[in-house]
Amino acid sequence: MRQWRGALVGFGHVAVQGHLPAWQRQEDVRIVAVCDADSSRRALARELLPQARVYERMDELLEKECVDFVDIATPPSCHAEQVEAAARAGVHVLCEKPLTTSLDEFVRMQQCVRSAGVVLHTVHNWRFSEAYIALRQAMQREQLGPIQQISLKTIRPGCAAGAAGSWRLDPRLAGGGILVDHGWHAFYLLTELAGELPEAISAAVSRRRYVDALVEDTAFCSVVFPCLKADLHLTWAGRTRHTSWTIVAEGGQLRLENSRLEVQSARGAFSLDLPSPAAGSHHPDWFDGVIAEFRAALAQPRAGYDNLCEAGLCVALLEQAYRSAREQGRAIEVVVPCP
Ligand SMILES: NC(=O)c1ccc[n+]([C@@H]2O[C@H](COP(=O)([O-])OP(=O)(O)OC[C@H]3O[C@@H](n4cnc5c(N)ncnc54)[C@H](O)[C@@H]3O)[C@@H](O)[C@H]2O)c1
Repeated sequence: MRQWRGALVGFGHVAVQGHLPAWQRQEDVRIVAVCDADSSRRALARELLPQARVYERMDELLEKECVDFVDIATPPSCHAEQVEAAARAGVHVLCEKPLTTSLDEFVRMQQCVRSAGVVLHTVHNWRFSEAYIALRQAMQREQLGPIQQISLKTIRPGCAAGAAGSWRLDPRLAGGGILVDHGWHAFYLLTELAGELPEAISAAVSRRRYVDALVEDTAFCSVVFPCLKADLHLTWAGRTRHTSWTIVAEGGQLRLENSRLEVQSARGAFSLDLPSPAAGSHHPDWFDGVIAEFRAALAQPRAGYDNLCEAGLCVALLEQAYRSAREQGRAIEVVVPCP
């Protein structure tokens, strides 16, 4: 069996609590190196992965190590430079979301990985959540038909803390607020559910909890697709953690409230209690699905193409949402940066 050699770049919360346990479940993958800018995280890496070599800088890691892939889980502002450095070294990349928050950067990254012939795959792990899988299965089983309306709400009592400093409220490190942090997940889920590309987006952003912050903690977006409309409500100003999705289709309706899914169809109404997702935002169980997608892309590089297009779409929606918010909620056309 071929053995894959990987390196973790950024050994913070999601790398340690979400990625590492899933990599350690893979028989044919060895994490041989770790890089983190923070000394206490490097000390933790030495403790958790005594066989791995630990670096402060990624360029040193790439120079000294012979790895097949890097798994990047640093704050968003690091991603573009690190993806491009890995690609130039001929190393495949799995990168946490948001891949980037700028379309120009996205295009540069896309060109860089294409000319290096390496895979660039973004972590779109909410697709593997119990809730999303159950919702897709119920839609199929109940034959609900074409979707007419989607509403996704993500309410959180504050933003998650970083392992080595709080970057989520710093626009230079995070690239934006909750729209970047949670909106990215909502954008790829919405587009997959809609089964078509978005045409336009309008958005309003505000600060309700972190009133002195330089990024938004609350966002409302309306996304127009050719055959349906979708609404997003994201906030870090909630009192408790709450996730709520409503899907209205021609043949019925689905409503998810945290881990309870209610379905109404021509065959009647029923509800399902799903296993509650683990506390926190690292979701180690969902990462197996991400690894399977990444493996498929490595086995047949073209398969990774869809994921890169999906990331491009998320960047386009993000950029246009912020532009709409600056222009008092004007609907802005979304141009997808992939052929
Ligand atoms: N997909 C998901 O569900 C999910 C969940 C949480 C976080 N994330 C994403 O994962 C990334 C990391 O988030 P986190 O919550 O783990 O943050 P974190 O702050 O806990 O971890 C980031 C780590 O990167 C290190 N770092 C910073 N700059 C570096 C550099 N230049 N080189 C090497 N290491 C560097 C920090 O020291 C820190 O240990 C973000 O992009 C975030 O959006 C995704």
